[in-house]
Amino acid sequence: MLGENRGVLDDFMNLMEQKETAERVLEMAALESSILDAIPQAIVGLHHRRIIFANNAVKDTFGWSREELIGKNVTIFYRSRNESEEIAHYFYSTLKDQRTFVNEFYCKRKDGKDILCRMRAARIGDKLKEKRIVVTYEDITEKRQAEEELKRSREQLRNLSAYLQSAREKESTRIAREIHDELGQSLTALQMDVSWLGIQLPEGHTRFMDKIRRMETLVNATIDSVHRIITELRPILLDDLGLTAAIEWQAQEFQERSGIVCDVDLNCVDSTIDKDLATTLFRVFQETLTNVARHSGATAVRARLVQEDHELRLEIADNGKGITRKQVSSPRSFGIMGIRERVNLWNGSMHITGKRGRGTTVTIQIPTPGEGAPR
Ligand SMILES: Nc1ncnc2c1ncn2[C@@H]1O[C@H](COP(=O)(O)OP(=O)(O)OP(=O)(O)O)[C@@H](O)[C@H]1O
Ligand SMILES: [Mg+2]
Repeated sequence: MLGENRGVLDDFMNLMEQKETAERVLEMAALESSILDAIPQAIVGLHHRRIIFANNAVKDTFGWSREELIGKNVTIFYRSRNESEEIAHYFYSTLKDQRTFVNEFYCKRKDGKDILCRMRAARIGDKLKEKRIVVTYEDITEKRQAEEELKRSREQLRNLSAYLQSAREKESTRIAREIHDELGQSLTALQMDVSWLGIQLPEGHTRFMDKIRRMETLVNATIDSVHRIITELRPILLDDLGLTAAIEWQAQEFQERSGIVCDVDLNCVDSTIDKDLATTLFRVFQETLTNVARHSGATAVRARLVQEDHELRLEIADNGKGITRKQVSSPRSFGIMGIRERVNLWNGSMHITGKRGRGTTVTIQIPTPGEGAPR
């Protein structure tokens, strides 16, 4: 009796288990299909190029509903028979050797529109049996367009910045020349006239003589200022004597005016440095010294220019309060941005580091011909 009952119980248990298994299989199938539909990329399963399953996202990507696609040849997604053949060849030859791959190809939507898709494909199972594979299609047309637009606008900005820099240099040179020709010549004439007056004045006119001496002093001081303004606008030294002399002059000038000791250690051969690059280095040096004078509270600054095989390195370190990271990366730091832009035009890099109370160091590195030629 007990044995009979156990038999019935076993049957019942088996039945329950089978039911549970069947339910679980159904549940798993439902889960799989909801996972497929939760994925935003179009997914299709292929068997010998025929679409055997597809998720809902195929509608967004290609405009076809999944029902329309089942049983169709995957050629339906491509722009031409030829392209379709090429893609299929690529797919199957790649998946023979590797389990998955990612690549980009052009596809066609139901409405005839071309789209660029990033495709990921994987074979179903260990081997490429009966050409059974799964492919996901991500429409990256807009993303790629946005990337290209961004690249284009960056390029435009870079060109604009190069244009502005060069226009500024040209304008400075023009103003410097005009001041030199107009003001410089008149001042020299005035200086000669005042000196002539001093010589012509008969003895005994002490008051006139004093006045003439004061005028002489004033005219000389004005000539000096005009020279300084001209040289800062467009360092004639840079054109005539080269970068090293111009930097030395600027350092001397800076030291006299600010009272901050300025040491320079220049280790380069002027004749090997491109003229426009020399202007860039000089302007960076000027802007950095101006910052030292205005913001650092330093008592000394040290500049080193080193020419190595493939790069030029300019390092300017002060012993002031130290710049903060926030100041370096602030979008309002236009002076620093200007340095970065000048350096970028030469494919170079710039680093600014500050240590609180211990100073700021600006380093720029420019690759020299062979590596990063100027644009
Ligand atoms: N050597 C330095 N030591 C300490 N702080 C500095 C130094 N150089 C720059 N800074 C800080 O970084 C900020 C940004 O410098 P940046 O040259 O970009 O602008 P700016 O000198 O204030 O103005 P601009 O150069 O446009 O006339 C400065 O305002 C200053 O606070
Ligand atoms: Mg500045």
